Amino acid sequence: MMKLRLFLVNSLLWISISLAQQGGGMWIPTELNESEMKQMGMKISAKDIFNPNAPSIKDAIAHFGGGCTSEVISSNGLLLTNHHCGYGQIQSHSTLENDYLKNGFWAMNNSEELPNKGLTATFIVDIKDVTDKILQGVSGEMNEEQRQQFVKSNIEIISKNVVKEAYQDVFIRPFYKGNKYYQFITETYKDVRLVGAPPSAIGNFGMDTDNWSWPRHTGDFSLFRIYADKNNKPAEYSENNVPYKPKHFLPISIKGVKEGDFTFVFGFPGTTDEYLPAIALDQTIKTINPSRIGIRDVALKILSDKMRKDDATRIKYASKYARISNAWKKWRGESLGLTKSEAVKLRQDYETEFNKRVNTKPEWKSSYGNLIKDLNELYTTNESYEIAEIYFDEAIYRNSETFRIALMMQNLLNAKGTAEFDGMKQRYINSLKGLYKDYDADLDQEVSLALIDLYKKNVPVEFLPENAIHINSSTFENSVLTGKQKINGVSISQDVEKAFANNEVLISTLENDPLVQEIGLILKAYEEKVSPKYTAIENQLAQLQRTYMKAQLEVFSDKKFFPDANSTLRVTYGKVDGYKPEDKPRYAAQTYLDGVIAKYIPGDYEFDLPQKLIDMEKSKDYGIYGEGKKKNAKMPVNFIASNHTTGGNSGSPALDKDGNLIGLNFDRVWEGTMSDLHYDASICRNIMVDARYILYIIDKFAGAGYLLNEMKIVK
Ligand code: ARG
Ligand code: ASP
Repeated sequence: MMKLRLFLVNSLLWISISLAQQGGGMWIPTELNESEMKQMGMKISAKDIFNPNAPSIKDAIAHFGGGCTSEVISSNGLLLTNHHCGYGQIQSHSTLENDYLKNGFWAMNNSEELPNKGLTATFIVDIKDVTDKILQGVSGEMNEEQRQQFVKSNIEIISKNVVKEAYQDVFIRPFYKGNKYYQFITETYKDVRLVGAPPSAIGNFGMDTDNWSWPRHTGDFSLFRIYADKNNKPAEYSENNVPYKPKHFLPISIKGVKEGDFTFVFGFPGTTDEYLPAIALDQTIKTINPSRIGIRDVALKILSDKMRKDDATRIKYASKYARISNAWKKWRGESLGLTKSEAVKLRQDYETEFNKRVNTKPEWKSSYGNLIKDLNELYTTNESYEIAEIYFDEAIYRNSETFRIALMMQNLLNAKGTAEFDGMKQRYINSLKGLYKDYDADLDQEVSLALIDLYKKNVPVEFLPENAIHINSSTFENSVLTGKQKINGVSISQDVEKAFANNEVLISTLENDPLVQEIGLILKAYEEKVSPKYTAIENQLAQLQRTYMKAQLEVFSDKKFFPDANSTLRVTYGKVDGYKPEDKPRYAAQTYLDGVIAKYIPGDYEFDLPQKLIDMEKSKDYGIYGEGKKKNAKMPVNFIASNHTTGGNSGSPALDKDGNLIGLNFDRVWEGTMSDLHYDASICRNIMVDARYILYIIDKFAGAGYLLNEMKIVK
């Protein structure tokens, strides 16, 4: 009897754990499933993670510059994030003589730390469900636009009346596709200084080749420090500011991880779309991703051919190339993962079950009976508009620099004679200065001509300009935007300020410029023939998806749903777990420094290494950070787990059962990137830098061991 009961309890436990693991999830920190987390091994409580009334782990987590995540790891406001999150700041302080990207940077005391204009760190003070207030007065009779207007004005009113301190901010966001609303009180620190960064050969080791893949060997971290005014409150940069005293900072554990260990990741995931109908997943695999990938294939091939041949081009285009290839590689992995996990079929089965349940209740049947059918119809209508949208975005706006400049100039011409003109002009001068700094006219012309060919070929003809597109190499030769023709006596790529000095000259030159004219026609066709219909369909889809979400919450009341990511603070949890790609043997969950050395290619642009690290590996002196002793000592580098993460989770801490930092999240495995649309525990893994590697690099490689004195190391 006893045995049977135990067996039952165990198997029930197993079912609930595997269900959780199966589903992934990015949970609102005020609504954690504490018992499930404890079953999986967590020793702390949900209140230790999030408590608005007493110090808790959330007080150590900051949104970094509004994009990545970062965490406080000392009593003096020391802030840890990824190298690729601090990249812009590291780059901005770099010069030819002091190339911090190449050689790394380490402040040896507070006075050497470098201020970063515009960089912020935002903490979450409190989270509150305000759904009732926001949706009060919303009625079923409203059309989508009326509803949006109504909700918007409710949000404004409620935000204005929130009781908070003067130095705090408030925002309200929709969750569950607009079925719920949450209010966030935040504190944003504005003086965040660079403390340290390893050389790129460590911080971005493996670059694009290793990006989105496992096994991985990257020390993707950098260090900053938050400064506050003398009352410890947010303040603009000032020499008189002092290191911030956090309510809580994360202790760092060097006890190490092993397969099966409980971990959770706490951060700011950006965007996911986990509740799409099967047809949308199918379109993603068959048309949407192939279109985006096809466009970027062409751009990347042209860029990489020239980058390989010419060092100057490589330097100019390295970060643009990385940006374009990052999403390109992600989409390829996503399609592979969706296919391999039969996501469409699973979603269809889910819809069948949904309809079956809906049919059991008359009131469900009348409200939700046609949902799947309506969604299918709308997605079918939307497909050609979606494709046109993607081509405009990818081929005209994102991947051709010259076309993007032409779009800006069109915008400027449209503001001619209005009060906005001068302000807009100044903003464009600033962004063009940056753009032209790393611009190669011939290379971008080659990319742009290839992209416009694709545009002509693949955008449905009814969406193209009436008199066709006439862009060829002479359009580029005869344009001021490429710098090949002068404007106001100078080449725009050499002196934007002077080129734009005289409004009359500027306007008449732009109006007569062949590229501005051609792109203007493409834009006009897009604005007349694509975007109004596309926006209308998107609005209808938003409404249907909101109802579908509401229906799922009711119909599957036995299932726990997490809201899609929306750049707000979330907790995801999982276990340290290896991974088996289709055609390869299973990979262990941990990589080591000997694997870094195995990938080493002297002088290579992705796999070169600092000599010092090679020597350090040989000596096997890993101090307190390594695993094993003497000859058998190993230095852990990266590890993976089944935490459900996405873009924005970069820089998020991975914490252990006791709430200590054990890793720094920075990436996902390739096919696992489908987790933005469909999470599958057998494939989806997040990738983290092992905390021990971070400390080892700071202490032994950089000689900045003084920083460890302010941390709390758990041995
Ligand atoms: N794939 C990761 C993310 O989406 C890391 C990107 C940075 N690294 C790179 N080689 N591009 O952001
Ligand atoms: N690398 C991503 C980031 O920068 C994280 C991810 O997409 O897994 O946020």
